[in-house]
Amino acid sequence: MMNIRGRQGLQRYYFTENFFSMPEKVVISGGSGLIGSHLSRLLLKEGYQVAHLSRSIREDKSIKHYLWDVEQGKIEEGALAGADYVINLAGASLADHRWSAPYKQTVIRSRTASTELLVRELARLKIKPRAFISASAIGYYGGDRGDELLREQSGAGQDFMASVCRAWENAAEGVEEEGVRLVVLRIGVVLSPDGGALKQLMLPFRLGLGAPLGNGRQYMSWIHIDDLCQVILTAMRDDKMQGAYNAVAPEPVTNAHFSEVLAAALDKPYFLPSVPGKLMKLALGERAVVVLGSAKVSADKLLKAGYTFRYQELEPALQQLLTE
Ligand SMILES: NC(=O)c1ccc[n+]([C@@H]2O[C@H](COP(=O)([O-])OP(=O)(O)OC[C@H]3O[C@@H](n4cnc5c(N)ncnc54)[C@H](OP(=O)(O)O)[C@@H]3O)[C@@H](O)[C@H]2O)c1
Repeated sequence: MMNIRGRQGLQRYYFTENFFSMPEKVVISGGSGLIGSHLSRLLLKEGYQVAHLSRSIREDKSIKHYLWDVEQGKIEEGALAGADYVINLAGASLADHRWSAPYKQTVIRSRTASTELLVRELARLKIKPRAFISASAIGYYGGDRGDELLREQSGAGQDFMASVCRAWENAAEGVEEEGVRLVVLRIGVVLSPDGGALKQLMLPFRLGLGAPLGNGRQYMSWIHIDDLCQVILTAMRDDKMQGAYNAVAPEPVTNAHFSEVLAAALDKPYFLPSVPGKLMKLALGERAVVVLGSAKVSADKLLKAGYTFRYQELEPALQQLLTE
């Protein structure tokens, strides 16, 4: 007798090949954020049914919202039922707060406890999703790797972000024990017109005060938001994708190069001396690693998986983000 997964696959085949196609359900934890909202728009356009797992209900006719409380270990009944894919993006912001000891706990638990809760909930489902796509970050490699080209098999780093990413990825691995295909995306600096890193990096440039940060030689591995969302879609659809992938464009750049291209794209002057790293550490504390740390990350595995980037190089990516 055909097992449930096989029957499911067959039903999906008939539904999509015939005219009775039932939209597939995608549940996104942290779907209200920068990546999740962009991804939701793409998925709706592609004909998926989108649901968000969130700490608060939002009014949105096209997206169903389910509540969860990570600290209480509670998730609204039915949230994951019938989910074809789960995309795990939840996590407390790394940019908006000083990394005090209590906030570091929030950063970790918002990723590990939330992922563990999803894994426990998946274990209760009779029919499992086809894939679980879980965010991680290039912070996995640590911020002190200089110009070493970092591939998925390069070891994890030693700093705070590296330990967060390790614990986050370990928590996600629980879905594999449930027979669910897992793709972990080690996401680079996401460039988006809606906020995030680009908005913060742009501020001094808009004021004509743009300059490299620290010695400017640190590598920054970035990805255009459109590419990231397409990568997530590819990871959903391509059953051969499994395990960790760096989600970065194939052209990592130094901070000095990024600053120069950004100034040109904004048509702003670029002549000031670099902002001393010591000053940035004073202002930002440990969080300074986000801008002063170096991560030259390879996109080769994603390219070998067949993904074609829309924005391979920084200049056209920034042009598109700043002009459209
Ligand atoms: N953007 C980047 O450049 C980048 C780079 C590498 C990795 N990432 C990772 O990718 C994920 C999504 O990124 P993003 O830029 O979309 O982040 P974001 O805009 O900060 O959104 C994250 C979402 O997580 C939920 N969240 C926040 N604090 C939480 C908490 N304490 N407990 C549970 N959920 C919480 C929120 O959703 P609700 O308010 O609806 O609950 C929030 O909208 C994050 O985990 C981030 O670390 C992002």
